Amino acid sequence: MSKHKIAVIRGDGIGIEVVGEALKVLEAAGSKFGIEWTFDELPWSSAYYDDHGMMMPEDGVDQLRGYDAIFLGAVGRPDIQDHITLNGLLLPIRRTFDQYVCERPSVLYPGVTSPLAGKKPYDIDMVVIRENTEGEYANMGGFLYEGNPNEVAIQTSAFTRRGCERIIRYSFDLARRRKKNNHVTSITKSNALGYGMVLWDRTFAEVAEDYPDITTNTLLIDAACMDFIRKPESFDVVVASNLFGDILTDIGAVVAGSVGLASSANFDPTRANPSMFEPTHGSAPDIAGQGLANPMAQILTSVMMVRHLGEDEAADAIEESVKSVLAIGEILTPDLGGSASTGSVGDTIAGNI
Ligand code: NAD
Ligand code: IPM
Ligand code: MN
Repeated sequence: MSKHKIAVIRGDGIGIEVVGEALKVLEAAGSKFGIEWTFDELPWSSAYYDDHGMMMPEDGVDQLRGYDAIFLGAVGRPDIQDHITLNGLLLPIRRTFDQYVCERPSVLYPGVTSPLAGKKPYDIDMVVIRENTEGEYANMGGFLYEGNPNEVAIQTSAFTRRGCERIIRYSFDLARRRKKNNHVTSITKSNALGYGMVLWDRTFAEVAEDYPDITTNTLLIDAACMDFIRKPESFDVVVASNLFGDILTDIGAVVAGSVGLASSANFDPTRANPSMFEPTHGSAPDIAGQGLANPMAQILTSVMMVRHLGEDEAADAIEESVKSVLAIGEILTPDLGGSASTGSVGDTIAGNI
């Protein structure tokens, strides 16, 4: 019997619902494969902010340090400014635990209809590696003359050689492990951003020399947005800065059927700190609390966590269960054209296991 201790932060909106379904599935996989889970639920969220004036306790991140992984739903509620909720919970965890890899696969599964015409299963099978600790999200800057007509806001990006090199190297290593096209695409904007993105490009070219078995190309972010729609089948591993990766992965999600299927992991590959597993989507206030959310993104995110914990058999079983529900196509939420509830999708996936 193996044991894993997981910090669970459901957060806000549909995060609360979809995490509940993923926990059902994890419990089912635990019983089947002899895994003893400890799920410690931490109520950190916008509701916690209502009561305490902060998203998590002062020592919140320290409390997470002892866990094997962090499993998070989504954060954000329309009546609180997003920079408060996200900078109070999600983003400091990514940064403090140096979770510098945000890995976001995008796969068109059998049974799922892409909004793009003529796409067959697995025509889309790529993974975006998003830098997750610096770049445009460095959050350095400030206001001058706040509230005055001559107000100034400074928002600085920070690109470091070390930061660029480690994320680019991770992408090349992943391309080797995937054995798909042995190809890495770098996303840039060095035509306009003449410092950070120039360092990014230079680092990409230098790292590529160490991987003669991997082919490469470079795309400007604007053209890459086009190609994610025009020819998503041309991508294997895509490496991008923090903001560009954020934007591209919502496109990657929707061309593969729905953001309700898009899994994501924030890794500290050194394993010095716990990694955090949260889907690509947000708290979806427009559908929250109505049983409409697709829990599959959260469940596929749990697959990434279970694999990270070394439980490959359980990870494969959960993934196969999701794929079979998609292939049968009877119990699907509205984002995939069905009318099933969040709970019945979760129950079906857990039941299969
Ligand atoms: P969103 O991803 O929450 O929703 C965008 C659209 O996708 C909505 O129409 C929503 O209904 C739909 N959608 C999202 N997840 C779905 C699911 N599982 N099943 C079916 N439909 C789904 O993005 P948004 O509306 O821009 O952001 C809402 C809030 O979430 C904001 O406060 C934002 O800052 C926050 N956010 C948080 C995270 C996170 O915690 N990781 C990620 C993205 C956005
Ligand atoms: C994501 C989200 C977050 C991000 C927001 C909520 C800060 O959009 O995980 O994709 O931009 O990283
Ligand atoms: Mn995003």
